[in-house]
Amino acid sequence: MKKTLALLLAAVMMLALLTACGGGDKPADNAGDSQTGQSDTTTPPADAATPEEPAAGGTVGVCIYKFDDAFMTTYRNALEAILKEKGYEPIVVDGNNDQAKQNEQINTFITQGVDALIINPVMTSAADTIIATVKGAGIPTVLINREPTPEQMAAYDKLVYVGCDARQSGTMQGELILDTPNKGDINGDGKISYIMIQGDPENVDAQYRTEFSVKALEDAGMEVEQLNLTRGDWDREKGQTICANDLAQFGDKIEVVFCNNDDMAIGALQAIQSAGRKVNEDIYLVGVDALDAALNEVQAGNMTGTVLNDANGQAAGAVAEMEKLLGGATYSSGNQSVYVDYVKVTPENVGDFMK
Ligand code: GAL
Repeated sequence: MKKTLALLLAAVMMLALLTACGGGDKPADNAGDSQTGQSDTTTPPADAATPEEPAAGGTVGVCIYKFDDAFMTTYRNALEAILKEKGYEPIVVDGNNDQAKQNEQINTFITQGVDALIINPVMTSAADTIIATVKGAGIPTVLINREPTPEQMAAYDKLVYVGCDARQSGTMQGELILDTPNKGDINGDGKISYIMIQGDPENVDAQYRTEFSVKALEDAGMEVEQLNLTRGDWDREKGQTICANDLAQFGDKIEVVFCNNDDMAIGALQAIQSAGRKVNEDIYLVGVDALDAALNEVQAGNMTGTVLNDANGQAAGAVAEMEKLLGGATYSSGNQSVYVDYVKVTPENVGDFMK
């Protein structure tokens, strides 16, 4: 009799506890659903202690080509903040500029069962392998920053690229030079003599910026002379060394320093200043990205201009496309690139871009 009473009491207590926790309200079909696994009340559900409990929006594997890249650091931070704000659990990994390492990271994410992937490939040439891998696992994937060809992307319909059209940034760099009082021809010899400090030439951003910056000058009817073109791999120190060497070799002949990105331009500026040259007086200097450091230099008159590579806009776009994919959207071939616009940054409008 005593035993029955005790059992009855225990059952009543269990029931009271369950009701208080709201466990009875949880729809049965939510169990095990990674998208809806967390309660929105302050009282945790009964299974909240399970370490594998996913965030409200699911887990997102984010592969960055290398953390030690100024622009991709801004981009990565924006991406992580947006994902977290939307209730996803981002896991962000550093590819250390090593494609083999990134391939392993992608495979690990697949084994872990992430809900979606956002990948900044180390090598554009590895796109085929990456796409085949994510397709094999059926994981919705957004590629960012290094654009594969439409043919490569066509292999998988749950894949989309979010980035910018690098041709646009190159054209804007050329326009920044055309907007100067002497259109880049400082010594008045009828031609614009320039050096080109290129990013990683394997990357379409480097190829197009190199081509279209000069094309804008030619399309405006200007004669151009390339004194040197050197790869600087998007790196500030390399930008400085290259520019210092070119200044030593070509001296006053250099009228324009084109840099495929701002980090190399900041390096180039150090070399220009050490050589006793003065930007916007006896030499012009342009970059791309609109890093904070570059905005400061544009405002101070130490850079002719830069081009906003909208990290926040691209990060927001990447998450929006990922959510479409998670919602079941597919992309048709030839229609798998989503572009965010570049914006020209000059001394006149630079204030609009500063925080
Ligand atoms: C470019 C950016 C560079 C570098 C590169 C990495 O879009 O302008 O600074 O981050 O991406 O792929």
